[in-house]
Amino acid sequence: MSGSVFGTIFTVTTWGESHGRAIGAVIDGCPAGLPLDESDIAPYTERRRPGRSALSTKRREDDRTEILSGVFDGKTTGAPISLLIRNSDQHSSDYDALLGVYRPGHADYTFDAKYGIRDHRGGGRSSARETAARVAAGAVAAKLLRMTGVTFESRVTAIGGIPFSDTEAVSALIADLREKGDSVGSEVECVIRGVPAGIGDPVFNKLDARLAGAMFSIGAVKAVDIGDGRQASKENGSSHNDPFCMENGRITKKTNHAGGILGGISDGSDINLHVFFKPTPSISLLQHTVRSDGTETGLEIHGRHDPVIAPRAAVVTEGMAALVLADSMLINMTARADSFIQFYADRSS
Ligand SMILES: Cc1cc2nc3c(=O)[nH]c(=O)nc-3n(C[C@H](O)[C@H](O)[C@H](O)COP(=O)(O)O)c2cc1C
Repeated sequence: MSGSVFGTIFTVTTWGESHGRAIGAVIDGCPAGLPLDESDIAPYTERRRPGRSALSTKRREDDRTEILSGVFDGKTTGAPISLLIRNSDQHSSDYDALLGVYRPGHADYTFDAKYGIRDHRGGGRSSARETAARVAAGAVAAKLLRMTGVTFESRVTAIGGIPFSDTEAVSALIADLREKGDSVGSEVECVIRGVPAGIGDPVFNKLDARLAGAMFSIGAVKAVDIGDGRQASKENGSSHNDPFCMENGRITKKTNHAGGILGGISDGSDINLHVFFKPTPSISLLQHTVRSDGTETGLEIHGRHDPVIAPRAAVVTEGMAALVLADSMLINMTARADSFIQFYADRSS
């Protein structure tokens, strides 16, 4: 299976299936000397963990991450960092009824069409369980970036089109969905602060292209807006363009409709993403589908599922954004001859 490796210099390979013994990530290319221990990762994986609120599944996954390699005396050594998260509370028998049945909205049919073999228990490699490994790796990237002043913040902005700030309406919607056995779509905002101007590339590896691709690699993501996003297609140049100005001797912008990226390269403003999630595909309402032998059937999915995805996915958007930025900022160190010459001049003097 290809496509499990992400990044160019700061690379992450995730491995494992939701109902195997463990999942994990291997980071290669993390610079040596970064202070790192498991407590740097725990706050991130804890935010993704199910069973934390009324909005998420009652599954109790213990997402404690063990660092197996690449750290000595509390610092990264430059060697591959192997991260392990053991699987527990799997309830594989919950999935017995799904053997050979294609769940609507899931990857079952397409995975079978491609590979001809599939682990029906929880979606295997297509399971959102895999995102725990990315979040753990993203926490390492975020720690590296924090040392340079780059920070990430994500929050749920809407559930089923209702602003998340309207807690009463959101709680009523979730209670209603639980009773009916249905699910609903949702939206997350992810803001990246402190990125200096000049990060990203002008053609295929535009920073916005890399960020959007990273967000689309998260299950259930159906759209990504950067800055004004789709709204820009309804605006005029006079209102959409961000006027440049000087502030404390530095070039800045009066507004940020662009979302912090111009021509694929960061402009020094906050980078602002909105990520849109479809409704959770597993619902307990009766759905029509087919089996792998071509017979038609009805399907009710009784397991433990999130009625809405954004509350657990918000930290996944942060993790993916951190992986993109760590990689892009490391790549950026090779952009100019003068910094290359200066780096080696400093070392030989
Ligand atoms: C953090 C997170 C949690 C998810 N939890 C569930 C879940 O409990 N039940 C479910 O059916 N889908 C869940 N999903 C979505 C599915 O993994 C996803 O929709 C499915 O693999 C099909 O992929 P696609 O929607 O990208 O086409 C979750 C996704 C994320 C990012």
